[in-house]
Amino acid sequence: MAKEIKTIGVLTSGGDAPGMNAAIRAVVRTAIVNGKKVKGIRKGYQGLLDEEIIDMDKSSVSDIIQKGGTILYTARCMEFVTEEGQRKGAEICKKHGIDGLVVIGGDGSFRGAQRLANLGINTIGIPGTIDLDIACTDYTIGFDTAINTAMEAIDKVRDTSTSHERCSIIEVMGRRAGYIALWTGIANGAEDILLPERYDNNEQELINNIIRNRKRGKKHHIIINAEGIGHSESMARRIEAATGMETRATILGHMQRGGTPTCKDRMYASIMGAYAVDLLCAGKSKRVVAYRHGEYVDYDINEALAMKKDIDEYQFNVSKMLSR
Ligand code: ADP
Ligand code: F6P
Repeated sequence: MAKEIKTIGVLTSGGDAPGMNAAIRAVVRTAIVNGKKVKGIRKGYQGLLDEEIIDMDKSSVSDIIQKGGTILYTARCMEFVTEEGQRKGAEICKKHGIDGLVVIGGDGSFRGAQRLANLGINTIGIPGTIDLDIACTDYTIGFDTAINTAMEAIDKVRDTSTSHERCSIIEVMGRRAGYIALWTGIANGAEDILLPERYDNNEQELINNIIRNRKRGKKHHIIINAEGIGHSESMARRIEAATGMETRATILGHMQRGGTPTCKDRMYASIMGAYAVDLLCAGKSKRVVAYRHGEYVDYDINEALAMKKDIDEYQFNVSKMLSR
């Protein structure tokens, strides 16, 4: 029988995502209702190594559900990728009586959680990233807010693009993953969508599309370009030179990571936060909370990290068909 957990730690790690606060709030309050102590670890694994650890009670998470960012701050920490850093982190957890830990972040953060679990700390991961690039889950905290923020911004660029009869290249976040580009590309009715997983660098095809659409009388040409492809400014200059159509690049950048979370992100993050604590209270460790095929579920962390995610072929084909 697993030893009963007394103190639950919670941290956010990697890129922040709107809705992380709702998850923190749910972790803290569910833990307290279950009679556990709660410690917040600031600035992810870096804060753990620096012992930036605070006691949390119900009121520590008052008035945060509607706020973007993370009240615990976040960081990327190279020291924690080393075995020495991980051992130090586990020792610090033990020193502070943290026998259960909830890690809110992406795949990288889950790797850290996996290492801590191997060193005897019960850990549960909650998927928090605007990129939607965690294979075991159909939902990650922050994606919904990010795509809605990007969609609204792209609508605005589209207005001015139409008025000036321009081509607009709009770069959305996603260094390795094209989900934000795919979703906004479809939702904003883009003429071309460039995904890191699929783009073959065939700029001539883009140029041909623009010329063809121009001849058909289209007033603008919107290209959604994922950050992972990048180079939007130089692409704009080449496209303008090749097509004669005035072309501008807009890089949406970090505005996509901030702002008040949508209802969906608050709701899913709240359920996942509670679910993570329920797992710890049930003596479980080394699990990742997920939302899959319409249900909240959990996976072994090794299994979750071994899973691969790719752009849905059908959605990709639909995006191509609708943009023609
Ligand atoms: P995300 O969690 O969003 O994928 P990162 O990949 O930047 O973001 O990872 C966040 C942090 O998780 C890293 O800065 C590092 O501290 C930790 N991490 C990443 N990979 C590993 C690993 N292989 N082992 C231990 N910790 C890791
Ligand atoms: O992982 C979230 C994310 O916003 C990615 O979409 C982006 O590539 C990356 O983080 C940017 O990281 P940084 O904030 O360090 O520039």
